[in-house]
Amino acid sequence: MEFFIFILYILSTITFLKSLQLLIRSSRTSPKLPPGPVPLPVIGSLLKLGDKPHKSLAELAKIYGPIMCLKLGRKTTVVISSPALAQEVLQKQDLAFSTRSIPNAVHAHGHNKYSTVWLPVADQWRSLRKALNSNIFSGNRLDASQNLRRQKVQELIEYAGKCCKEGVTVDIGSAVFKTSLNLLSNTIFSIDMADPTQDSVKQFRHLIWEIMVEIGKPNFVDYFLVLEKIDPQGIRHRLTNHFGKIFELFSQLIDERLELRRLGKSGAENDVIDILLNITEVNGEINRTHIEHLCLDIFAAGTDTTSSSVEWAMAELLRNPETLKKAKAELEQTIGKGKPIEESDIPRLPYLQAIVKETMRIHPPAPLLIPRTVETDVEVYGYTVPQGAQVLVNAWAIGHDPSVWENPTSFMPERFLDLDIDVRGRDFELIPFGGGRRICPGLSLAIRVIPHMLGSLINSFDWKLEGGIKPGSWTWMTNLASLYKRLSPCVLFHCLCDSLIFLVLGKCIRNVAIHFVVHVQFFSLLIRLTEL
Ligand code: HEM
Repeated sequence: MEFFIFILYILSTITFLKSLQLLIRSSRTSPKLPPGPVPLPVIGSLLKLGDKPHKSLAELAKIYGPIMCLKLGRKTTVVISSPALAQEVLQKQDLAFSTRSIPNAVHAHGHNKYSTVWLPVADQWRSLRKALNSNIFSGNRLDASQNLRRQKVQELIEYAGKCCKEGVTVDIGSAVFKTSLNLLSNTIFSIDMADPTQDSVKQFRHLIWEIMVEIGKPNFVDYFLVLEKIDPQGIRHRLTNHFGKIFELFSQLIDERLELRRLGKSGAENDVIDILLNITEVNGEINRTHIEHLCLDIFAAGTDTTSSSVEWAMAELLRNPETLKKAKAELEQTIGKGKPIEESDIPRLPYLQAIVKETMRIHPPAPLLIPRTVETDVEVYGYTVPQGAQVLVNAWAIGHDPSVWENPTSFMPERFLDLDIDVRGRDFELIPFGGGRRICPGLSLAIRVIPHMLGSLINSFDWKLEGGIKPGSWTWMTNLASLYKRLSPCVLFHCLCDSLIFLVLGKCIRNVAIHFVVHVQFFSLLIRLTEL
């Protein structure tokens, strides 16, 4: 019996020592994850995201710090919320963080395998980025296509002027969206895609909108991969249909162009399609499928981001009449009242530029940028970002951080007049376009188009808010759903032009508000879908 007890004693001692050894070894080797909330079983911290993930994550960062780790469904997510850490991820360790975390919905038509937005940093992606950077968005190319944009902005002003004279409602959001769409469609195909009189493209605008809405919907599949095959909300299914229609349209336009080229009748256009077709003839990396997916990328990433920035700027100006007055004074002094603005005038309009920066600080169109992932464990500030984790950079939180910005929720363009901070990805306090090698390639176009459209709208009309709502009491900024309720249907925008007063009715505000809700959530929801 004693022998038996002795053996038991020896065995338990060995087991205890072994366990201790394993514990010490695992504590030495297991990664030190960033702090974060304790996850619930199965769903993790999903419920903490709320309907505005960028805001909820900013609140959580106040508790857990500028690098935190959350379990969202089955997915480990690391969230970055300070300029220093954003610089670490987007610039200093750029390569390690340059792969995208891909939402399930964009697997439709294999989009993830051809898209500049979703491809990993490798030869295909490099060729596509090179095509974009040197042939489409280079300074020379943009200078050459300036005339086309001037024309589209002029059409926007003419449209507003016509409504003004006829005293009918102007839906600003819709008009600016249409302008952005036509700007891009002319740059790519030399046609107006938002022109409702053209049969072949009648549905185009609607289609682009539907695609953004679908991508923007929260998708359970991204949270729980086991649901992939079922596609319970049908998002991938609907997106497959939408993508199918849009690729059919692009394909038709490419065929027409190829036919013109075959007949020797093309060349005058020298638009993006011509440039891309030229590239396919010399570069095996890019083929026709890439071109079709690239067109989708350009329309999906470039239309709404641009137009929502103009809408937000207009909304902020209407809420801040003093700022609007100063902007008008600068334009009157530099350009002349009511005169058309050129892109080349923008460097001479520092206050207008400051308004655009301030708008993008408070309302970044992609508040969580576009999600990245890491392919191996990566050390950041003493923490491990584990292999396969999704990485979100909260540009919204950085733009609203009181330790970075004085009165962060106030719209004060003046702050930028004496501040050498730009949106081009070198100042990590303000990163609406992201940073590093995956920085938005459309940046150079956006920073021309947005002030051009905005300055033209301000300089051509007098805008004011009426209907019993005083701008000072207009506390709509953070909750657009309540804005929608509060503003409709009694609010009127009065736009004074050529001594005529026209009313931009509550309907317009309602549309704009609805657009805003979708705009603001487009990328953020995309991230919400993607990350989980
Ligand atoms: C206000 C306007 C715009 C904003 C705020 C914006 C914002 C962004 C952001 C945050 C990213 C991700 C960057 C990162 O991961 O670091 C991005 C990527 C991208 N944007 Fe934009 N964008 C705008 C306009 C445009 C335009 C006009 C185009 C094209 C015509 C465009 C095309 C793209 C593409 C293709 C990517 C993917 C780049 C890659 O992953 O390599 N964007 N954009």
